[in-house]
Amino acid sequence: MNRGRLVVFEGVDGSGKSTQLGLLAEQLRESHLAPIVTKEPTDGRWGRKIRAMARSGEVIAPEEELRWFLEDRREHVEKVMRPGIEAGRIVLSDRYYLSTVAYQGARGFDPQALLAQAEAEFPMPDLALIFELDPEAGLARVQARGDAAEPTFEEAGFLARVAAVFRALDRPYLARIDASRPIEAVARAVRETVRERLAI
Ligand code: TYD
Repeated sequence: MNRGRLVVFEGVDGSGKSTQLGLLAEQLRESHLAPIVTKEPTDGRWGRKIRAMARSGEVIAPEEELRWFLEDRREHVEKVMRPGIEAGRIVLSDRYYLSTVAYQGARGFDPQALLAQAEAEFPMPDLALIFELDPEAGLARVQARGDAAEPTFEEAGFLARVAAVFRALDRPYLARIDASRPIEAVARAVRETVRERLAI
């Protein structure tokens, strides 16, 4: 059986990655490729803990926050990602370890060290799409769609640092998408990038 693929969607809050993941998933289904659609934080116990913390605006120690994201990812990789990839499926994940590198990097951890640890422990994505958008524009989108606010992460100064880490990342599996354009234009860029990079 063919090994599957792991495609991850990364970027600041409001960059449109979730919408684009949904659109790509739909196109793949139309081509009978039956993707597995998943996300981090997950809906498991660690993910629920993280979301409750983010919505309350509670500030926990950065070490503790990092540990929760890593525990959540361990479960996610073992239960969803590895089995999916090994079964030959295309796994699409809304966020993965580059979010830890960028967000926990913005909390003060060394982004290069976080990246090295992540690559040593977790499967590397076949493709990581980074949706690039000015973080202020992202925040405005989040507010306009009326999502539950997550004050722990959605703060302008913090998100500016997150965006700076995303901009500085350099990996062969990474592709940048200009997310400031209309949804359809971004969707075309995603489709094209997936075709070029993965031949699917
Ligand atoms: P988000 O994608 O906004 O999830 P939802 O829309 O379901 O609430 O993720 C929640 C926040 O968690 C987001 O602001 C980014 C942050 N985050 C990290 O700080 N580190 C990580 O490793 C991940 C996966 C997310």
